[in-house]
Amino acid sequence: MEFLQFLIFFIILVVKSVDCGNQFSRDDFPADFVFGSGTSAYQVEGAAAEDGRTPSIWDTFAHSGITHGANGDVACDHYHKYKEDVQLMVDTGLEAYRFSISWSRLIPNGRGLVNPKGLQYYNNLINELISHEIQPHVTLHHSDLPQALEDEYGGWLNRKIVYKFSFEKQHGFLGLNLFAYWFVPFRNTTEDAIATKRANDFYLGWFLNPLVSGEYPITMKKNAGSRMPDFTNLESKQIKGSFDFLGVNFYNTLYVKDNSDSLKKEHRDVDADMAVQLIPMLDNSSTVEFPVTPWGLQGVLEYFKQVYGNPPVYIHENGQRMQRNSTLEDWPRVMSLSGYIEGLLHSLRNGSNVRGYFTWSFLDLFEMLDGYESSYGLYYIDLDDPDLVRHPKLSA
Ligand SMILES: *[C@@H]1O[C@H](CO)[C@@H](O)[C@H](O)[C@H]1NC(C)=O
Ligand SMILES: *[C@@H]1O[C@H](CO)[C@@H](O)[C@H](O)[C@H]1NC(C)=O
Ligand SMILES: *[C@@H]1O[C@H](CO)[C@@H](O)[C@H](O)[C@H]1NC(C)=O
Ligand SMILES: *[C@@H]1O[C@H](CO)[C@@H](O)[C@H](O)[C@H]1NC(C)=O
Repeated sequence: MEFLQFLIFFIILVVKSVDCGNQFSRDDFPADFVFGSGTSAYQVEGAAAEDGRTPSIWDTFAHSGITHGANGDVACDHYHKYKEDVQLMVDTGLEAYRFSISWSRLIPNGRGLVNPKGLQYYNNLINELISHEIQPHVTLHHSDLPQALEDEYGGWLNRKIVYKFSFEKQHGFLGLNLFAYWFVPFRNTTEDAIATKRANDFYLGWFLNPLVSGEYPITMKKNAGSRMPDFTNLESKQIKGSFDFLGVNFYNTLYVKDNSDSLKKEHRDVDADMAVQLIPMLDNSSTVEFPVTPWGLQGVLEYFKQVYGNPPVYIHENGQRMQRNSTLEDWPRVMSLSGYIEGLLHSLRNGSNVRGYFTWSFLDLFEMLDGYESSYGLYYIDLDDPDLVRHPKLSA
């Protein structure tokens, strides 16, 4: 069996109190609650063709020109600057760093031998973090499947790929990450209330129902019909309860409007099956900034508590988008952080099983769809600067 082996050491940190002028502080959170920030491999590492790394599907996607002509060939050059970046994490007071492992750097063809230089890099990064008492939280796959596996198997649609991704569980705590929205009915109608429930089933239930009850949500099975695969009894048993925690990415609260007409469409895909229209809270706002809705994050946590038995949750991503070159005085991001962290405290106090908060992102990095146009970072990097010097923003 091919496998990735990781030792993840969790260090209990001495808790420091942070005075940010709010009505709450670090001391209001449990000592083992963790505050960190995150990145992902393709978005920060650069060194795309160095030391044996081969392309992932994300390299291909970016080089197709879809991200405003930008790509992650160099990105933040984190691959070479990781020591400096870990020092910045110390300066920032981070207790943890969430990063991902580039599969095609570690195992260039996606299968077969481990690339010693790739392994060395991740070992070095982890050692650097641990020696500075920063917990490594490792993402094993962040949208960057090796292109070789895409070519050979057609990617994740092929069951065989599961065996390529299998790894041995050692120490640590294993979970999966969900991209969550909080949904609210657009109109005060029964149709929109049902549509909101359906949106939750499609966005969260698709993954959580099998993990909690061994079955896909009934609405999904009904609307997708024979296009929804069934689990065998054995599979159902195996997946049930097979996670230690949920990672949650939360950025937005959306209105949901019933769109049952899409069920009459001949060409049916997941959107047509979901049969809703999602409407942003600020549809045509002139800024790139997201509306700050801590109550939406609290809604998601409350939903996990009431519907899925309150599993341990880490907020893996939450942050504020701004124009990349705008300003180091990133007040909208400061206000967003403050609002969401306060909201989290309310959830905790009301019994939610939330264990940590990671703000996206540590650096201004290569964004999935925006390229380098917008950013979420605590540190600004001028892309015209050959040294790619990191500049702290107010949020840092
Ligand atoms: C929503 O509709 C119900 C039933 O028609 C009504 O009682 C309620 O006041 C309405 N709520 C709002 C916020 O309009
Ligand atoms: C925003 O969008 C709504 C509906 O799409 C439209 O009625 C309104 O005029 C728009 N407002 C601005 C300021 O563009
Ligand atoms: C607090 O938790 C209780 C029990 O789950 C729930 O009924 C209530 O709605 C929660 N409050 C908020 C503000 O979410
Ligand atoms: C950011 O500013 C730099 C330097 O002025 C400029 O070269 C670059 O094009 C700007 N990028 C964006 C996305 O505005």
